[in-house]
Amino acid sequence: MNFSGKRCIVTGGTGALGAAVVARLRAAGAAVAVIARGAAPGDMDFSGVDLADPPAAAAAVNRAVEQLGGLYALVNVAGAFRWETLVDGHIATWDLLYSANLKTAVCASKAALPHLIANGGGRIVNIGAASAAKAAAGMGAYAASKAGVAKLTEALSEEVRPKGITVNAVLPSIIDTPANRADMPKADFSKWVKPDAIAELIAFLLSDAAGAITGALIPIAGRV
Ligand SMILES: NC(=O)c1ccc[n+]([C@@H]2O[C@H](COP(=O)([O-])OP(=O)(O)OC[C@H]3O[C@@H](n4cnc5c(N)ncnc54)[C@H](OP(=O)(O)O)[C@@H]3O)[C@@H](O)[C@H]2O)c1
Repeated sequence: MNFSGKRCIVTGGTGALGAAVVARLRAAGAAVAVIARGAAPGDMDFSGVDLADPPAAAAAVNRAVEQLGGLYALVNVAGAFRWETLVDGHIATWDLLYSANLKTAVCASKAALPHLIANGGGRIVNIGAASAAKAAAGMGAYAASKAGVAKLTEALSEEVRPKGITVNAVLPSIIDTPANRADMPKADFSKWVKPDAIAELIAFLLSDAAGAITGALIPIAGRV
């Protein structure tokens, strides 16, 4: 894949999956800006942005597009995870995951859309979760927020299809990240999907070959 001349924003590009996505797109020649809440070290990277805050998200996206000189694709990787039962958990967790997983994608997409429209078309890729299809115990708040990402993907894909913008979501199961290895030390890590494999799928969705794919919710599960 050759992405030279393609201008992309990756939210949460400092995290385990986000870093793999940024590396894959840059390796293909894309100009990539990262927007993240924590420190994001590069020239094209925007730190300290809470993407669930609409004005902050809009300001960061606008600054990123100005630096990039336009926008072809937005990859919404920002998100968070909590395992918590309702009996022992906190109502605040539902707000937290709604904000981190759904509202960040909504705010970043709303901010990016005028630029994608000005570009004459483009791509949005969201990160849902396989666990949203059938939530296990303790997964209610997370799965509800990721089910929201799936519905955002479907509705927005229909809305912007006439403008030549595709909107798709990838649905990982358990990703092989340092955090998951620390949380589940006895698991068979070899079964987990690697960040690089998900980055490859996202790169495909940004490629010319995927121009006719929109509204798709694509599971990527490794051998789980
Ligand atoms: N790990 C898994 O097994 C798994 C499975 C299915 C789906 N997913 C999804 O895949 C995505 C990446 O997961 P990951 O494991 O790579 O997570 P991660 O390492 O925790 O990275 C998440 C990134 O999102 C950023 N972020 C979170 N809330 C934000 C906000 N309000 N504004 C701006 N940035 C924000 C984080 O920034 P800070 O670090 O500064 O907070 C971080 O850069 C998430 O959407 C996650 O739900 C993960």
